[in-house]
Amino acid sequence: MTAKSSESRNAESFVVTIDGPAGVGKSTAARLLAKELGLLYLDTGATYRALAYAALRRGMHPIVDAKAIASLAKRFKLKFHYKQDGSLQVLLTGRDITTAIRTEEITEAAAQIAQHPDVRKAMVACQRRLAEEQGPGVVVEGRDTGSVVFPHAAFKFFLDADPAIRAERRQREMARMYGTQPPLVQVREQLNFRDRLDRHRRVGPLVKPDGASLIDTSHLTTEEVVRQMVEVVRRSSAH
Ligand code: DC
Repeated sequence: MTAKSSESRNAESFVVTIDGPAGVGKSTAARLLAKELGLLYLDTGATYRALAYAALRRGMHPIVDAKAIASLAKRFKLKFHYKQDGSLQVLLTGRDITTAIRTEEITEAAAQIAQHPDVRKAMVACQRRLAEEQGPGVVVEGRDTGSVVFPHAAFKFFLDADPAIRAERRQREMARMYGTQPPLVQVREQLNFRDRLDRHRRVGPLVKPDGASLIDTSHLTTEEVVRQMVEVVRRSSAH
């Protein structure tokens, strides 16, 4: 079951990738799947968010200053720390920015900086380094993890869902996170905007990677999604 992958120096690493658009339930599914398989998970969206946070703090503009942001990406010191309960802490030069990277301002800036090819190149290197630091196996989630970051992953999943359902989920998540619930039409517009950016960029666009198992999460609970993924992994491991 071990994936010998050229993208990782650790020949024993076992990588599972989960890609899909915003609001499809990737993060929770990745965390639960990692727990089920006894692995750690890697949230690649958090790396773009952390970079956006670092850039905005330096007064950089997410589009105009893309070159400077790419150069910042090559040297910024990002660390992921996992607490006892399995939750992820994002540390930037030792400072805990876990909550600070979840604001709407950072969400928008992260989507914009992620368009720049040089930024993506630096972030892919950063994500591979973080995966290596997590140990011999990892569940990675994002937009290009099965197609670009770990094309030789042992298992790849692509999650999708009806846009209306994704918007409702995102609206509930925002209510939980910020205590206020924006109108559904506004959430749908924001999701459409991010979908367009994700699917149409030149480098690392959101696609179903070759060999990925597609799961439509529209009418499934997270537990059902994870059960399907575990079945795929176990079925293949039994052979
Ligand atoms: O999954 P998220 O919302 O935390 O991701 C934040 C942004 O980062 C999102 O707008 C798209 C971008 N992203 C990306 O381009 N590639 C990834 N592998 C992960 C996220």
